[in-house]
Amino acid sequence: MTDAHITVHTEAGIDRIEPELHGHFSEHLGRCIYDGIWHSQESDGEGFREDVVSLLDDLDMPVLRWPGGCFADDYHWEDGIGPREERPRRRNLFWSQDRSEAPEEPNAFGTHEFLNLCERIGTEPYLATNVGSGDPQEAADWVEYACYDGDTELADRRRENGREDSWEVPYWGLGNENWGCGGQMTPEQYAREYRRFATYVGSMDNLMVDHDIELIACGFENHAWNRRFMEEIGNTNWGVEFPLDHLTLHHYYGRTMSVAEADEEQYDAFLAEALEMDEHVERIAAAIDAVATTRDIGVIIDEWGAWHTEAVAESGLEQPGTVIDALSAAAVLDVFNHHSDVMTMSNIAQTVNVLQCLVETEGDEAWARPTYRVFDLYAPHKGNEAVQTSVDTPTRDVADEELPLIHASASVDDETYVTMTNLNTRGTHTVEIDVEDVDATSADVDAEVLFEGQEPDLAVDANNADEFTADELDVTVESETLTVELEPSTAAAISLE
Ligand code: AHR
Repeated sequence: MTDAHITVHTEAGIDRIEPELHGHFSEHLGRCIYDGIWHSQESDGEGFREDVVSLLDDLDMPVLRWPGGCFADDYHWEDGIGPREERPRRRNLFWSQDRSEAPEEPNAFGTHEFLNLCERIGTEPYLATNVGSGDPQEAADWVEYACYDGDTELADRRRENGREDSWEVPYWGLGNENWGCGGQMTPEQYAREYRRFATYVGSMDNLMVDHDIELIACGFENHAWNRRFMEEIGNTNWGVEFPLDHLTLHHYYGRTMSVAEADEEQYDAFLAEALEMDEHVERIAAAIDAVATTRDIGVIIDEWGAWHTEAVAESGLEQPGTVIDALSAAAVLDVFNHHSDVMTMSNIAQTVNVLQCLVETEGDEAWARPTYRVFDLYAPHKGNEAVQTSVDTPTRDVADEELPLIHASASVDDETYVTMTNLNTRGTHTVEIDVEDVDATSADVDAEVLFEGQEPDLAVDANNADEFTADELDVTVESETLTVELEPSTAAAISLE
C-alpha cells in the first residue's frame, strides 16, 4: 500500500540553499577542543589531531563558529596568542566539568590555531566576541589583529606571532545568549550593547579593503524578546541604521529524554520537538520583518541539535551518537531547505565529542557519527535552489502536535535532489515521489538510504562506525512516478539527472 506521496514542484523555487546552512559550532567545553580538535598534551607539530582534522576536511564544512557558546562571553582573545608556553592559564567559568578531566583553560588553542584550522579545511571562520564581560575596544581589536593589513601595533603583533597575511574572517558574532549566560540582559539592554559593539566592530569594515564583515546578533527562542530587541535596535536618535546582518537563535531538543533508555513515545515527542524548528524560523523571521524595513537581515540557527539527559556538565555534555539523533538532524536540514528564503546559516552543536557532534574520539581513535553520514547525504543540496515540496503523509498525534511520519525537501541545480526521512520508528512506508517537469522514466536515478535495519537507539563507537554509511536504495519508476520503501527510522536521498 502506498501511504505517502511527495510532489516536487521544480518550477516553484524558494531560494538558494546557502552552503552555510550546513555549518558547525565548537566551544571550549569538555573534549570538543582539547582531546577533540587539539591534543590535550601537545604530542607533535602544532598539536592538531590529524585524524579529526581529516574527518572534518572530508565533511566540506562551510563555516565554523568559535570559541563559544557561553565560553565566548568570558573569553579574552589576547590570552590565546603568542608563544604557547607564555599564555595564561584561566578558569573555565561555565564548563569546568569534572576537575580531573578539564580543570582549566590552557589557552593552547587560540586565534591562530582556530584560523589556521579553518584555512586547512577550507572553512569560513566565524568568531564570537565577548559582549558579556568584554568591551567594544577588545572586540574591535580582535578584528584589527586578525584581519587588518596596515602597519599598526596589533597587525604587527600578528606578524610577530607568525602570521604575515591577515586572515579573512567574514562572520563576527556580538555576544552569545546575552539573555542568559552572556550577561542576563533584557532585549533593550542587549540592543544598546549591540549598537555600541557594532559601531566599533562594524567600523573596522571601512578600514579593510577587500574584506567584508557581517555582524551577527543573538536572539532567543522567546520571540517577544526578539521583537523587543529589533524595536530597540531600530530606535536610534538620528535614524542611523546599525550594521546587523543576521539574527540568531538556539534550538536544542530532547532535554528530558535519556537517549539510551527512551521508549517509542519518547522518540515521537523528541522528533516533534526537533520539527518545532520550523515554527522558530518562521517566528524569528517575522520579528525581523515586523521592524526592519530596508535591510536584509538573515536568520541563523546558531546552535541546534539533540541534547539529552546524558549530556550534563560533569560528562562534558557528552551523549551517545545514535540513529534517532541523526534522523532528527536529517529532518531539521529539510526544514532549513524550506526556509532558504530567510535562512543564511545554521551551526549544529558541537563539532567533536560534545552534544550532537559529528566526530567522536577516544584515546587515539576518531570516527564519524551517524549525524556525519546525514550531513554527507544532504551535502548535494548545498548551493542548489530549494523548491516547494508537498508531502501527503500519515501523521501521529504527539501531545498537542502532529508528527508527520514522512518528511522531505528538494532542490534543483543540474540535477533534482530529493531528501526524505521516515520518522516512524516502528513502521515501513511506501513512498511515491512525483517530480514535476522531469521525465523520471528517462532520467538517471540514484538513491541512497541510511540506517536500514538499525534500531533508533543504536549508538556508534570505534568498532561499528562503518556500519552507518549509506546503502543503495531500490527505486521503481512507473509512469513517471518514483516509488521507494522506507524502513523505520531511515533517511534517504534520490537524485535525478
Ligand atoms: O552548546 C552548549 C551551550 O548551550 C552553549 O555554551 C550555550 O550557548 C548554549 O546554552
